[in-house]
Amino acid sequence: MTESILKEPDKVKVLFEKGGERGSAEKLAKTLGVEFTEDPAAVKDAGIVLRYGKDGLYFESEGQILHGDLSKLRQRLEKGRVDHELLVKAAKFKGEKPEDLTAVDATAGLGEDSVLLAFAGFKVTLYERDPIICALLKDTVRRALKVQWLSDAAKRMKVVEGDSITELPKLADPPDLILLDPMFPAKKNSGLVKKKFQMIYLLERQSSDEGDLMQAALSAHPRKIVVKRPADGPFLGGIKPGYSLSGKTIRYDCIVR
Ligand SMILES: C[S@@+](CC[C@H](N)C(=O)[O-])C[C@H]1O[C@@H](n2cnc3c(N)ncnc32)[C@H](O)[C@@H]1O
Repeated sequence: MTESILKEPDKVKVLFEKGGERGSAEKLAKTLGVEFTEDPAAVKDAGIVLRYGKDGLYFESEGQILHGDLSKLRQRLEKGRVDHELLVKAAKFKGEKPEDLTAVDATAGLGEDSVLLAFAGFKVTLYERDPIICALLKDTVRRALKVQWLSDAAKRMKVVEGDSITELPKLADPPDLILLDPMFPAKKNSGLVKKKFQMIYLLERQSSDEGDLMQAALSAHPRKIVVKRPADGPFLGGIKPGYSLSGKTIRYDCIVR
């Protein structure tokens, strides 16, 4: 979790490499209150390195890497395939074009669910409360803007650093859709927890506030809330959905208002 990582800021270093965005790297170090360096030797003993190179921002710790890359979803996005995604099916409104609809991804992570919605046509605002994950996310969307087949979707994605529990109740206009995907509870010794999520676990404070997140979403008065859950997981905040769409490992609970 970032708060505990940042309690030991001397363990975190931002390393700038040739070809990277110097301004962004310096700004990140300043925001987090950690050391900025261009010297690879200076990060040898750092517990966590935030490396800004020509391919963007990487979070590196104990041999593990976290780096957003939306272009790897190409197989799932192109040639009309995005409409077969369970999330997109759960998100859609019968008889309405996603191009006319707004969505809020209240737990954006590295933006993979958001890009499915944006590619389908939704205009998506992405909230991410963790400053390191949010920096990775902003960098991920910035790079997606430069990828020809992805750029239109990336233009529909707006990243905001903030806690949805406090931000959603303040929204001026109710969005059509809110997506909630807080961290699933960790299963002991589970090989199912992908590497990416092991890293996010390291950064994320465990969600003890799932009920608050659901209440914040309800108070924003969206037309629909979609909650991503493990197939056998409990309802978020104990709220029973109107209907659910289930896949092998994932379930989307849909609360229609
Ligand atoms: C399971 S991950 C989401 C993965 C994301 N759906 C994707 O496709 O990459 C959960 C993320 O939500 C963020 N998060 C959890 N609670 C939040 C809140 N109240 N406000 C904003 N972000 C939150 C966490 O920091 C974490 O990055």
